[in-house]
Order: sequence, then C-alpha cells, then structure tokens
Amino acid sequence: MTKNIAVIRGDGIGPEIVEQALRVLDKTAELYGHTFNYTDVDMGGCAIDKYGDPLPEKELQKCIDSDSVLLGAVGGDKWNDVPGHMRPEKGLLRLREGMGVYSNNRPAKIWQQLADASPLKKSIVDKGIDFIIVRELIGGIYFGEHKTEGDTATDVLKYSESEIERIGRIGFETAQKRNKRLCSVEKSNVLDSSRLWKKVMHSLAEEYPDVELSDMLVDNCAMQIVKNPSQFDVVVTENMFGDILSDEASMITGSIGMIPSSSLGATTCGLYEPIHGSAPDIAGKDLANPIGTILSAAMMLRFSFDMPKEADAIEDAVSAYLDAGYRTADIMSEGMTQVGCRKCGDIITENLKKE
Ligand code: IPM
Ligand code: MG
Repeated sequence: MTKNIAVIRGDGIGPEIVEQALRVLDKTAELYGHTFNYTDVDMGGCAIDKYGDPLPEKELQKCIDSDSVLLGAVGGDKWNDVPGHMRPEKGLLRLREGMGVYSNNRPAKIWQQLADASPLKKSIVDKGIDFIIVRELIGGIYFGEHKTEGDTATDVLKYSESEIERIGRIGFETAQKRNKRLCSVEKSNVLDSSRLWKKVMHSLAEEYPDVELSDMLVDNCAMQIVKNPSQFDVVVTENMFGDILSDEASMITGSIGMIPSSSLGATTCGLYEPIHGSAPDIAGKDLANPIGTILSAAMMLRFSFDMPKEADAIEDAVSAYLDAGYRTADIMSEGMTQVGCRKCGDIITENLKKE
C-alpha cells in the first residue's frame, strides 16, 4: 500500500523524535512492501518564526489532504509572550478542529519492564494498570468563547447532545473491543453540561447492552486513578477533564515519554502524537525518548491504515529493546544501559522483523 503522511516535526525535541519514528516507519515499509510518502508541515513556534502564524491555512490543508498526520511536539518558552491567538498551542487546537478529530484515545498502560518507574506503591501496580482515556477533543471550554473585558475574563464551556453522543459512541465501541467496562467521568453535581453528558451516556447505554456503564465525578476519578487504577477499562470524558486526567494517568505508568495517542474523527485520516511536550531544555542533545512517537506511528498503522501486523511488529521491537535493558535518560535505572535518542531509534529499527 502507498500512504501519504503529513509530518509535523514541531519545536524542541520534536524534530529528533520524529526522525526516529520515520526511520522505524521506513524499515516497516521495506519489510512489508509498503510505500510511505512524507510531506513536511510547519506548525507551532517554528511556523510563528517563519510565517507569523502557528498554522497557516496551506499547512493545515496539507494535513487534511494526507492519509494521516504524525506530530512530534510544539511550543516552548521562546513563544510564551506572544498573544493567546498566536501561541504555538493555538496551531495544535486549529489542527485538531480543522481535521475534525473529535476523539482522542490515550492509553495508560504499564510496561512490565518499567513497573519500577511508577511512583505508585508496588501493591497497587501489581494489580495491573491498563486503561484508555477517550477524551472529547474539539468541543467544551477549549473551543467556547474566550474573552477578557476589563478585570474579568470568561471562557465558555458548552456541549450539544450530538457532540456528546458521537464521543460517547467511541467510548462504548472502545469498551466493546476490550473488557466491556466504560466509566463516564463528569461533574454533574455542579455543571449543566455534565448533567447533559450523563443523560446522553445513559441513553446510549441502551444500545450497548454488552457494556457495563458507570458514572464517576471527575474529582473522585482523579483520586481513584492513584488509589486503584486497576478498576478502569475505558474512561470517556470531556475535553478539559480528559486533558488533566490523561497527564495524571500517564504519570502513574512512570514514563510519560512512552505514551502515544491517536485522534480520529469521521474519516480514517487521524492525528498521531506522543502525549508529552516539546521539552526545550533537552532539545538537540540527543537525550529525548522517541518511543512515544514511535508508538504513535504504530497506532497510525493500526487505526488509520489497517495494518495490524505492522503495528504489532513495531510494538514488539520496542518491547525487545526494553527487554535488552536499553533506556533513555528519562527512564534510566540501575543496571540498565543508557542510550540517546538516535541509538534508541537504531536499536528499535534493527529489532523490527516481519512476523
Ligand atoms: C495535550 C496538551 C494540549 C491540550 C495543549 C498543548 C493545548 O496539553 O495535548 O494534552 O491541552 O490539549
Ligand atoms: Mg495535556
């Protein structure tokens, strides 16, 4: 198969981690007889420097016209003082909205080889951590009206039934493919939008009798994620709650640098990115962990290109790398062999095999 991939290297460590993911994709293409064509897209701080705009229309269009988008990371202190509508993050939000990718899938799974890196007690980790946060990505407070008038600032949190229904369906379908437990997270004791959220989730539940639906208030969920994470299978929640809970969930796996994500909408053209940021402090030093991006590329093959064997091969190559004791600085521990970003890419690429 031939696939056209839009590649956003972005800022900070973005370019170096994306480079390693592309090497892994190229080797996969060679082994399985595919062709991946890459189109570079400027987004984030580098686009502000070049065009005075974090995502010019023509760059967005390249993404919409592609078969899928691979993104490193955007942002950095350098652009902290630019006005809100010009920030690098605004490029990312415009990209998500422009591609219509309303469903963001963020797995929180512990790699057995890295279990010691979790900040949680061993007795909790041993019960297993393997759940997915399905986050609504193009609605809610992120996309409501934002304004500052005098000494007062306002951000509007708004959801319609249809916006909730489409993400709800993804939650139920994701649960159907796993252990059939869906936890809907909201703040229905306070917010109208959350009461609507809960109502829609319960009316959808009738269509998915094989899935067990539960409700949880977001503050309680934040607590349960550290107290008893093994209770979760799939969590579905609105945009900002999902943003916060997914950072928390990634931390308990001990290695935010390892976590990929996928964002999809009505078509198979998806956006794939690691969930960590651009880490400007270590940029260009060959210290970054490219695995979150490499695993994001694997997700692209699985969810957008229908290449499950190829995706398995990449995940197996990552697992073999960890088994052999290699670690980048972020997950380094005693007795392991420390490697840089490029070397990590070398080893994972070498490990790739056709099953
Ligand atoms: C994320 C990030 C973004 C978000 C920022 C960079 C706009 O935190 O992908 O989780 O809040 O969605
Ligand atoms: Mg976030």
